[in-house]
Amino acid sequence: MRNFKSYLKNIIEISDKYLHQVFSEKEYNLFIEEIVSADQLKTPEEIINQFSGKYIQFIKEKHQSQYKRNDKKLLDFLKIKNNKIKIIWGDCLKVLKEMNSESINLMITSPPYYNAREYSYWKNLDDYLANMRQIIKEAYRVLDNHRVFVFNVGDIFDNDNLKTKAVWGQRRLPLGAYFIKIFEEIGFTFVDDFIWDKGEVQSERHKQGNKPYPFYQYPMNCYEHILVFHKHRLDHTRYPCPVCGTLKVNGNTQSEIGIKSWECKNLKCFERSKSNRGKRFSLKSIMTQSHQFKEHEIPLDFIKKWRRDIIKFSPVIKINSQGKNTLGHTAPFPEIIPEFAIRMYTYEGEMVLDPFAGSFTTAIAAKKLGRVGVGIEINKKMFRDAILKNIYKHFEEPLFTDSSLLISEIDYEAK
Ligand SMILES: C[S@@+](CC[C@H](N)C(=O)[O-])C[C@H]1O[C@@H](n2cnc3c(N)ncnc32)[C@H](O)[C@@H]1O
Repeated sequence: MRNFKSYLKNIIEISDKYLHQVFSEKEYNLFIEEIVSADQLKTPEEIINQFSGKYIQFIKEKHQSQYKRNDKKLLDFLKIKNNKIKIIWGDCLKVLKEMNSESINLMITSPPYYNAREYSYWKNLDDYLANMRQIIKEAYRVLDNHRVFVFNVGDIFDNDNLKTKAVWGQRRLPLGAYFIKIFEEIGFTFVDDFIWDKGEVQSERHKQGNKPYPFYQYPMNCYEHILVFHKHRLDHTRYPCPVCGTLKVNGNTQSEIGIKSWECKNLKCFERSKSNRGKRFSLKSIMTQSHQFKEHEIPLDFIKKWRRDIIKFSPVIKINSQGKNTLGHTAPFPEIIPEFAIRMYTYEGEMVLDPFAGSFTTAIAAKKLGRVGVGIEINKKMFRDAILKNIYKHFEEPLFTDSSLLISEIDYEAK
């Protein structure tokens, strides 16, 4: 206990000047009070983790408090820890606008592919892309810093409705390319484009009809994009050295665009280089390196499967031999997509959001992997029954039992 008190005292003394630079007097007192009251801690390592974790949490809450528009009922719904899939019925633009900044650890989605489905409603391609841009902008704010958005989309053959609505206005619409530009303009870093080889060609157009001559080639559709974007909001806030826990650190260059790095200047830090340089780190390296334990290891065969960025797996088969849609939803993606994103970019217990949840494949995969799965879906009347049935099927719960055992729902002006 004596050691604990003296090591914590040491961190606070060295960091005091910097704590006063970032916190108001009220915040400072609250922070110290919370740190000091955690007196069950013993080893310096536990004390450093506690100091660092609390400090990062306080800085995040300070950042979050700058955004004023959030709905208390929705925030309470998201906050409750109950191991259930969280369904938010409503328009994701409106819902995202009410959510806390940097409160979601990973986003995965597959948006509506412009007007390819019965639930689509945009008057032309520009109208659609403008709407998607607004949604992606809010998603950027809500996604935690240095985190990832995995976005599955296919290029389609459709009419952009910009010049004519007639059949002759149809053309190949490279949605993947349009989305990459939107994401980048909003501030995301484009990191990867996995080409999902769906095996079979999805249309008959490639067959050239009865014209085995040049120039009768038509666009095909046997792949989709799985785009990976990172968020790196440049944050100049000083963070504690992960080795000694103090805030006596100097700013370094950015280790990547948007990732501010630091170097420890505490000469008594446990780790100094031969030339007496201090530990170099960033908020991102704290987040990644502090979790490298056995329980966070990704299975090797899973990593191997995703080593190539052309990857082949079948789309979801939803039509049975009688031509009936067995899922009740027209465009689900295979579970391997959210599974990939969740294993690669989250830790257990973290929040995973799909803003266009559809049949809730993302939330189902998140729950199976011990994460909190949240989905927003606008078409409640059209899909609710099928969605609940789908969720139950995955967890082998008997159908028609009390849905509140597995799911919690909130309404936000859904259709
Ligand atoms: C391509 S599907 C998503 C499929 C999903 N990945 C799955 O596995 O089922 C797109 C979904 O977004 C929903 N949607 C469209 N616009 C929306 C909006 N503004 N807010 C929330 N959901 C929306 C549609 O109803 C549809 O269910």
